[in-house]
Amino acid sequence: MQSEPVVLIGAGGHAKMVIEACRSASTWRLIACMDREPRSTKLLGVDVIDESETAIEQAIEAGQWFFVAIGENAVRGRVSHALAARGAKFATVIAASAYVSRSATVGPGTVIMPNAAIGAATTIGSGCIINTSASIDHDGQIESFAHIAPGTHIAGNVRVGAGAMLGIGCSVIPGIEIGEWAMVGAGSTLIRNIPARSKWVGSPARCIDPS
Ligand SMILES: CC(C)(COP(=O)(O)OP(=O)(O)OC[C@H]1O[C@@H](n2cnc3c(N)ncnc32)[C@H](O)[C@@H]1OP(=O)(O)O)[C@@H](O)C(=O)NCCC(=O)NCCS
Repeated sequence: MQSEPVVLIGAGGHAKMVIEACRSASTWRLIACMDREPRSTKLLGVDVIDESETAIEQAIEAGQWFFVAIGENAVRGRVSHALAARGAKFATVIAASAYVSRSATVGPGTVIMPNAAIGAATTIGSGCIINTSASIDHDGQIESFAHIAPGTHIAGNVRVGAGAMLGIGCSVIPGIEIGEWAMVGAGSTLIRNIPARSKWVGSPARCIDPS
């Protein structure tokens, strides 16, 4: 299969991870990273260029795909919406060592990092990060721009709202609902539903900010 050209937006640590995920799977051919404030001319051997209006326009006209490689959920969402309004199309990046069930779906602009596992009938929305060695069991629903950090394990029938962030090494029991833009601290265990925009930490998790 011939690889498709992709431009990354962003040139930081998360972009490095995305570059290596792209290279592992050979679905995508990296054209460049675009950044508003480039700090170097190369990132892991990929050209870093200024994220100018002209550069974006040229990439869209050339039929290149985009991938927004920005770790912060709200910023990734904002940048993705702006690009979509200009007609950009988004790549889905799945590292070669990730497992994605044939009955799962993965949206555009989402990355599935190495050794992550996506179970049966699970739906992953657009612009999500399913990070290294995270697992999501059957019938999960992960809404757009959520981030499931490395080593987090989510049981069956869990819904994660848009833009929510589950820190490194969390556990979530079956059937839990996590509200949109909620934040769960590293190493936490979620045993009850949590509302939108609230912040939870610990095992079992307690609320430290209800807003
Ligand atoms: C949850 C988190 C965002 C809280 O940050 P914060 O709002 O700055 O909160 P604070 O550091 O002021 O801590 C507030 C309280 O929560 C506790 N707390 C914070 N994070 C905690 C965690 N992960 N587990 C248990 N308790 C935690 C603090 O000890 C403190 O408790 P206290 O008031 O009894 O002293 C942050 O600690 C965290 O866990 N981030 C996850 C980062 C991550 O995994 N990123 C993935 C990158 S790939």
